[in-house]
Amino acid sequence: MGFTHIGRAAFLAGVTAWSLAAPAGAADASSADAQAAHGKHLFLYCAACHTIGAGEPDKVGPNLHGVIGAKAGTRGGFAYSAALKDSGIVWSGATLDAWLKQPTALVPGTKMAFAGLPKDQDREDLIAYLEQATQ
Ligand code: HEC
Repeated sequence: MGFTHIGRAAFLAGVTAWSLAAPAGAADASSADAQAAHGKHLFLYCAACHTIGAGEPDKVGPNLHGVIGAKAGTRGGFAYSAALKDSGIVWSGATLDAWLKQPTALVPGTKMAFAGLPKDQDREDLIAYLEQATQ
C-alpha cells in the first residue's frame, strides 16, 4: 500500500516534471530552427545579389549585415535608388515582409530587380533566417 502510494506519487511527479520540462517553447525553438533552415535555402534567391556576413562586400545589392532595425537605403558606400533612400522605411519583420512580397509595390522605383516571394510561409521562413544571419 505504502509502496503503491510512493509509486503513484513518483509517477505524478514524473508527469508534472514532464509537463514542465517540455514546454511549448521547446517546440517553438525547433520550429524556429526549421523555419530558419528553410529560409537559408530560400536566401539562395538573394545570394546572387546580396552578401549577409559582417564586412562582406556589396554585390549588385548591398551587404545585408545589420539591416534589421536600420533605415532603408543607408548602408555606407552603396549606390541606392533615390526611391529607396527617400522611402522612410525602417527594416523590421513587417516591412521586410511587404518588401519581399513585391519590392516594387512597397517602393515604386526601387532598383532591386526581384519579383518577390508570393508565398506567406516562404517570406516568414526567410525573415526568420535573416533575423539570425544578419545580426
Ligand atoms: C537581382 C539582384 C537582387 C536580388 C535577387 C535581390 N536583391 Fe535585394 N536589393 C538589390 C538592390 C539593387 C537593392 C537596392 C535597391 C534600391 O536601391 O532601390 C536591394 C535592396 C535590398 C534591401 C534593402 C537594403 C537597405 O539597406 O535598405 C533588402 C533588405 C534586400 N534587398 C533583401 C533582399 C532579399 C532578402 C532578397 C532575396 C529574396 C533579395 N534582396 C534579392 C538587389 C537584389
